[in-house]
Order: sequence, then structure tokens, then C-alpha cells
Amino acid sequence: MQRDYLSERVRDLKPSAIRQYFDIVSTRKDVVSLGIGEPDFATPQRIIDKAVQSLRQGGTHYTSNAGMLELREALSAHLQRLYRVSYDPSELVITVGGSEALYLACTALIDPGDEVIVLTPCFVSYQAEVHLAGGIPVEVPCRMERDFSFDPQEVAEAITPRTRAILLGFPSNPSGAVAKREDLLALGALAEEHDLLVFSDEIYDQLVYGVEHICFPALPGMWERTVLLGGFSKDYAMTGWRAGYAAAPEPILNGLLRVHQYSVMCASTTAQVGALEGLLHCDEDVRRMQAEYDRRRRLIHSGLNEIGLPTFEPRGAFYAFPQVSGTGLSDIEFADRLLEEESVAVIPGSGFGLGGEGHVRCSYATEYSQIEEALRRIERFINRL
Ligand SMILES: Cc1ncc(COP(=O)(O)O)c(C=O)c1O
Repeated sequence: MQRDYLSERVRDLKPSAIRQYFDIVSTRKDVVSLGIGEPDFATPQRIIDKAVQSLRQGGTHYTSNAGMLELREALSAHLQRLYRVSYDPSELVITVGGSEALYLACTALIDPGDEVIVLTPCFVSYQAEVHLAGGIPVEVPCRMERDFSFDPQEVAEAITPRTRAILLGFPSNPSGAVAKREDLLALGALAEEHDLLVFSDEIYDQLVYGVEHICFPALPGMWERTVLLGGFSKDYAMTGWRAGYAAAPEPILNGLLRVHQYSVMCASTTAQVGALEGLLHCDEDVRRMQAEYDRRRRLIHSGLNEIGLPTFEPRGAFYAFPQVSGTGLSDIEFADRLLEEESVAVIPGSGFGLGGEGHVRCSYATEYSQIEEALRRIERFINRL
């Protein structure tokens, strides 16, 4: 028998629920996929043109570790304009997607044995990254009865002397929830009372529908203790480019930067050039894509409810999160059978942690007609059950 060479931390890591479905779907042509969490739009053309031009003109070298100063200046102005939150360029680091920003926060700020409160259902990497940093993710569920926001009382009850940070992600993948100001203020008061850090993943910040996105560090007293995680993948349809960022007060940011420096040196130069073009000139493109997501959101929300799957109205990101427990199937059985019998891919909610069980995630980052077809097939499936 060969020795197991994997570290304990990696051995304990479960494979991602999403990846498993992604692998099946990518081999089947007949599948209507509501499974994928990335924009179906191409990156705006002027971003592509600018990046290609930069490559042709010799933009093939490293940038500074923190990222191009011009990009950090534009990002600083962008955050100020959108959310009235002030970050000096020295308080920003450009990362390899929002994923690296999360990795940096966990690696630089969590010690082994530290507890991190994770509001779930959430993006699959949250618990994994906390775990890889040696921390212990402590889940607090966000429930449909509360519009998939959290109960501050339950957060308070989860805090122990070992709690180091709270990790939140609104607009939410997978629920589509956008947290309300009063809940965030209550969470901020808890963070202050117990001197906790807050990691706020706001990667879907510009994809909200009829509600305001609240940038957590813009709340009174929160700037000092927040690491803001963001990126270009979703808002600007740039998933494959790998550009994101973290923002934090300088002493914290410097810690993140040290990890970044030794692990990736700098984000891709070409992606940074593209991201800069996005920030400077692509507001209109973001609005166009947001408006189309909104149209699809209304279709899928009403469609699922009409079929008889209770579905909360998503207010952000591009996911609907219907409750399927009424069908008598578990979320995993529902997703497996729907794929098998009607060739529609959705992701079981239990893969996103507590609060996700009994739901499935349906991404509407796919064409309107595909969503119509998926709804027809789901209805046929439900009627047969
Ligand atoms: C909530 C959330 N945060 C972060 C990420 C990572 O994004 P990126 O592609 O920029 O690494 C995702 C991707 O699905 C996400 O849904």
C-alpha cells in the first residue's frame, strides 16, 4: 500500500459539490444547465481590445506586487464613487480573482484553532479556505423565513473566546439574498463588542435588483476591522481573466500583501489592464448585463413559484434558490433525478452548508430561452413525481 502523502488539512477537504456537476454537464450536449456560476456574456469588447493592445505593446512583464498603481487609483475612486468608502491605493491589493483575496485574508489573519463564523448557505470556498488556514469554520444558517439573511441573535450565540472573524458574502451565492442594513449594523455591533475582524465578500456588488447594496466597511466604525473582498469576474464578465482585489487598513493589508508576494508575486498584467479599462469605461456594459439578468431573474422567480417550488425573490447575484423539500426528495436526489430524467443541471443546496439543505441553486446566468426550456422540463419532472 502506498503511503498517503497528503497533508491532514488537504485530506480533510471535501471535493466541491459544484465541480462534480460541472464535470458531468461538460460531457453532455443535451443538458440545459442552470448549474454554472459564471456570466454567459463575453467580456466587454473594449476590455478585450485594451488587453490585446497592451500585450502587443510589450505589456508582458510583472507589475508591482500590489498591482498597477493606475488600477489601484481607479479602484479607490470607484469605491469612493459607489459607496463613499475611502481606500488609499496603498490599502488595496489586486489579486488573482476574488478567490485569491479570500485565500489571502484567511492565510494572513487566521491562526490554527481560531474560529471563523461563516454565514451559510455560502460560496463553497469559504469553509474550505478557513480550514486550509488551520481555522475552524462555525456555521450560522441564513434561512428562507428571514429572506436568507442571518439572525444576529444566532451570530451572537456562536461567538466564543476563540472567534477571530466573521465571514459574510452578500449579495449571496447561492441564495441571491442581499443583507439589510439593520442586520449588518447588528452584526457590526457584535464585531465591535467582541473585537472581531469581518471579511466581507462583495464580488456581486453591482448585480443587485431594486435594492441597495451596502458596502460593509462603509458602515459606521466598520472600516477599521473589515477586509473587503471583491473582483471583476462577475460584474464585468471576466471570470477567465482572474482579477480581483482585497481592501483593508494598511497594517492588515500589508499582511495580505506578504502572502500574495510569496505565493503569486502579482496578478496577471493583462488582466489588470483589462480590469482598469472596465473600471474606467464599462459602466454601461455592466448596466446592460445587470438589466438582462434582472429580466431572467423575474422569469425564473415567477416560473419556479408557479410550478410549485417555493422560491424567495433573489435580489442580487444571478441565482435562484427554490425549496424542493416539498417534493419529498432530498436536494441531492432532486438534482440527480432532474439531471437524469430531464437533463437539467442544478446544484444541491446542501453543498453550500447549513441553511442550504432542501434547496437547489439555479443560476440564471444563461439565455432567457434556456431558462424557459429548463422551467418546462422542471414542471414535467415535478408533475411526474
Ligand atoms: C461569492 C463568491 N465569491 C468569490 C468567488 C470567486 O470569484 P473569482 O472567479 O473572482 O475568483 C465566487 C465565484 O463563484 C463567488 O461566488
